[in-house]
Amino acid sequence: MLSVTPFQTIIYEKRDGTAVVTLNRPKALNALNQQSLTELLEVFEDIRQDDAVAGVILTGTGSKAFAAGADIRELAVLTPTEAATLSRHGHALMDAIEMLGKPVVAAVNGYALGGGCELAMACTVRIAVETAKFGQPEVTLGLIPGYGGTQRLSRLVGKGRALQMILSGGSIDAHEAFRIGLVNEVTSGDELLGRAAVMLTSMTVNAPIALRLAIEAINQGLDSSLDKGCALEASLFGLCASTADRAEGTGAFLAKRKPEFQGK
Ligand code: CAA
Repeated sequence: MLSVTPFQTIIYEKRDGTAVVTLNRPKALNALNQQSLTELLEVFEDIRQDDAVAGVILTGTGSKAFAAGADIRELAVLTPTEAATLSRHGHALMDAIEMLGKPVVAAVNGYALGGGCELAMACTVRIAVETAKFGQPEVTLGLIPGYGGTQRLSRLVGKGRALQMILSGGSIDAHEAFRIGLVNEVTSGDELLGRAAVMLTSMTVNAPIALRLAIEAINQGLDSSLDKGCALEASLFGLCASTADRAEGTGAFLAKRKPEFQGK
């Protein structure tokens, strides 16, 4: 595993086409401070530009927390202007992850609260350990979710459940999160990273440009009408037809062999 540039709040490694990003502030249950946001933005930009990286696993260090939210010590002293700026900083990171164009699997190894839940929701899919807890407890602090939670939670689990979770500030366990569609799979702590790698590979074996355009079609489409979403889909479908990978994928099927995609 190649460890890339030392960071203060995260560990960033690349191996065999996969980047593994580990939130690493164990004494604060991997809470996201402003430094974490800056470092994560830098890492995800590096991943976006690195054609050798096909996908990402995002997890937290230790067995207790994925991330217990934004850093409350920082939140406690923000002015209103600073708070709005911090929120935009968080949004920039969540958008960069959601629209990375490569699959990002959140391997949720424990608490995913507040900004931690928002970070997991910005990922393409989520796998959680049985002991994980999900919630948006911001209202218990006199705040509302600030890194996209009010928007992404309702898109993932529906308005009624999102309102219940956000207004109560309560948390749900991994099985409930699976039941309502907040996580894609529940596993044991021992198997978490292995299962995350399997889920990632099930996507990254496919044509990279098609993955990027599917992510774009789904995310952009959810923000518009069905008509506009389908219009976008048609144009991206056309774009796929211009790729060498379309020729390879369809040709391989017809020749009854496995495709070898080039991402071109
Ligand atoms: N920010 C800063 N420090 C945090 C933290 C956070 N979000 N969450 C935990 N910590 C720190 C604690 O202060 C404690 O530090 P000390 O040892 O120095 O006292 C350490 O991590 C361990 O935490 P606990 O002793 O509280 O551990 P616990 O097992 O008793 O409880 C927990 C675990 C239920 C997750 C609890 O820590 C907790 O409720 N954390 C806060 C969760 C939260 O409210 N998150 C939302 C933050 S706001 C937000 O995220 C806004 C946004 O959308 C942008």
